[in-house]
Amino acid sequence: MREFTPATGRDRLPAGPSFLVCPGGLGYNRPGVYRPGHAPGVQHVPIDLTVVVPTYNERENVAPLVGLLDKALEGVAWEVLFVDDDSPDGTADAVRELASRDVRVRCLQRIGRRGLSSACIEGIMASAAPYVAVMDADLQHDESVLPGMLEKLRTDAADVVVGSRYMGGGSTGELASGRVWISRVASALGQLVLKARVSDPMSGFFMLQRVYFDRVAHDLSGKGFKILLDLLASGRRDVRVAELPYHMRARQHGDSKLDTMVVWEYLVLIADKLFGRYVPVRFVLFVGVGMTGVAVHLLVLGLLHRLLAVDFLVAQASATLFAMTSNYFLNNVFTYHDQRLYGAALVRGLATFYLACSIGAVISVEFATFLFERSFPWFMAGFFGAIAGAVWNYAVTATFTWRATRPKSVAGK
Ligand code: GDD
Ligand code: MN
Repeated sequence: MREFTPATGRDRLPAGPSFLVCPGGLGYNRPGVYRPGHAPGVQHVPIDLTVVVPTYNERENVAPLVGLLDKALEGVAWEVLFVDDDSPDGTADAVRELASRDVRVRCLQRIGRRGLSSACIEGIMASAAPYVAVMDADLQHDESVLPGMLEKLRTDAADVVVGSRYMGGGSTGELASGRVWISRVASALGQLVLKARVSDPMSGFFMLQRVYFDRVAHDLSGKGFKILLDLLASGRRDVRVAELPYHMRARQHGDSKLDTMVVWEYLVLIADKLFGRYVPVRFVLFVGVGMTGVAVHLLVLGLLHRLLAVDFLVAQASATLFAMTSNYFLNNVFTYHDQRLYGAALVRGLATFYLACSIGAVISVEFATFLFERSFPWFMAGFFGAIAGAVWNYAVTATFTWRATRPKSVAGK
């Protein structure tokens, strides 16, 4: 790989055209007057292509990536925008260091936030170019495909061009077979919500027309990893998709940020696209967890009362506590995966959850009794009572348990 030396603008011109380079140094001849394109020696060429690169702990990869882009995009007015979620390894500093020497490099550092999709979305939003690409920082995506993608967009042959590993001429390279399998199943599932046929809807490598993005921007869910699927599933009209094959390379530095929960996030995204317009997916998950709580409750009650001959009242109270606790932890992992609480916040959350659910139980009983006394059949009274309790629990814990803290607690990776 070629060693990358960013252009300083004074002593070295980049290999490509000399747009954006200021041989005479910056400075307008009439201070205070903004006259684009009229600064001496400065050519203000509009950017044609922004490459958005989400990063989390990719310090070692940014300079080599810029070098590869510099080579691959010769003759194109491009810029690269790294969207970094405050990586502990100082990726943002590394980017800014490059940016101080090369105007084509930009850094958007987000603090207290995490998420691949939202990073991509904000990166695209921060670009004014007519064409925007998204790729991994880890050199896994083949940058030499970019000019071909750009060509397809320039000729208006597509709204979105996807780099595909699963079509003739493409491959997953050294990706572990388990990952390939997951990726294939997920692709098949993705077809459920897609408005176009795509061989690799899980790809993190694609380019799109800015006007297409503007069309779907307000409907994006922005959750999780699967930004492309989100983009393709959010259009109201059909989307024109083209695909170009590429061979996925192995990661050089650092680790993949994909963990098993990514699969879960993906399922939630699909559910959100399928019926999120009618019922919030989170509420459905919350109710689902509540149902597991019923099972836990009965199990503990049976165990204590029948098997260990514990007094019914004590057994019932213990079972309630057990079920609430298990509900809390399950909700924290599944329902609120993206706002997961850790450490002290986890303990504080448990306290508010107990409190909210205790009141919820009273509401549920009161409401059911109210209906029962007005000659509703027992099962309907019970059912509506349970729903009233669930809605209360959901609303209150969403506000006090999982939203009271700033998402600074997104520790983990
Ligand atoms: N800003 C930000 N915030 N960037 C992130 C975050 C985050 O929370 N998580 C990951 N990234 C960055 C990584 O630094 C990397 O540049 C890129 O997003 C993709 O993450 P990887 O950790 O490299 O993921 P992967 O290579 O395992 O998965 C790739 O292949 C999948 C298909 O198998 C990605 O391209 C996925 O998008 C793709 O679906
Ligand atoms: Mn990667």
